[in-house]
Amino acid sequence: MAKIIGGVGTSHIPAIGGAIHKGLQDQPYWKPFFSGFPPVRDWLATARPDVVVLFYNDHGLNFFLDKMPTFAVGAAPQYISADEGWGIPTQPPVAGNLDLSWHVIETLIDAEFDVVTCQEMLVDHACTLPLKLLWPEGEVPVQIVPVCINTVQFPLPKASRVYALGQAVGRAIASWDSDRRVAVVASGGLSHQLDGERAGFINKPFDLQFLDSLESNPQWATQFSVHELVEKSGTQGVELLMWLAMRGALTAAGPKVRRIHTNYHIPISNTATAVMALEAA
Ligand code: DHB
Ligand code: FE
Repeated sequence: MAKIIGGVGTSHIPAIGGAIHKGLQDQPYWKPFFSGFPPVRDWLATARPDVVVLFYNDHGLNFFLDKMPTFAVGAAPQYISADEGWGIPTQPPVAGNLDLSWHVIETLIDAEFDVVTCQEMLVDHACTLPLKLLWPEGEVPVQIVPVCINTVQFPLPKASRVYALGQAVGRAIASWDSDRRVAVVASGGLSHQLDGERAGFINKPFDLQFLDSLESNPQWATQFSVHELVEKSGTQGVELLMWLAMRGALTAAGPKVRRIHTNYHIPISNTATAVMALEAA
């Protein structure tokens, strides 16, 4: 059976793509953000994942407001990156793993998550930037299975539902008849709000409590309604639901996780950023 090696959560801000393109990683504005990644990359180099299940939210590229699935799973041989309007460079296509995609889809439907299946799927900065941050050199050395969770158009799925989705994805990985090593990546957050009266809103105490909860009390955030999460983390901060799904998936590997590394830095653009790696017990 496949092995879940652990999970990584990371922010995904379009400006990161611009900074990578211009080689600004060591500049004072960017260094506190980019310096969070080498320990995570070192851990990945030892943990050697072959496949990544990537929880992310599409921002109006593959799905627009007229057709918005709550949960969608990629089942494409490759994922082509495109720019949904930020003007950042696109990345080369990333290979999918069809076998795991369909096994995840079958497991989810059996568990009564009636997901949309996507045999073609354009991916935006939320999918490409985490991969670029984790594997900055050359081609992405893993195959991916993208799992898209709607956090852009209300109604959004409840935190408890997202956690349960993550748990079901974890069970799918753990029951996959394969000798592959699988990492789970979450893309999004942490607290940020890009528009409206509270534009620029950041909530450091809440973010730090959320990060801690993922290690020791993973269901902590499921006590909050989506509106409470928006209140605490901002309209776009609800992207932290991806981290909750990632942590849910790790439960399939055992009750505990080991925290490998965390970096929290405010702000990049309008966002409180974080990267965290958790090893499956
Ligand atoms: C920003 C953050 C996001 O999560 C996003 O998808 C786009 C922009 C920002 O802070 O600029
Ligand atoms: Fe986003």
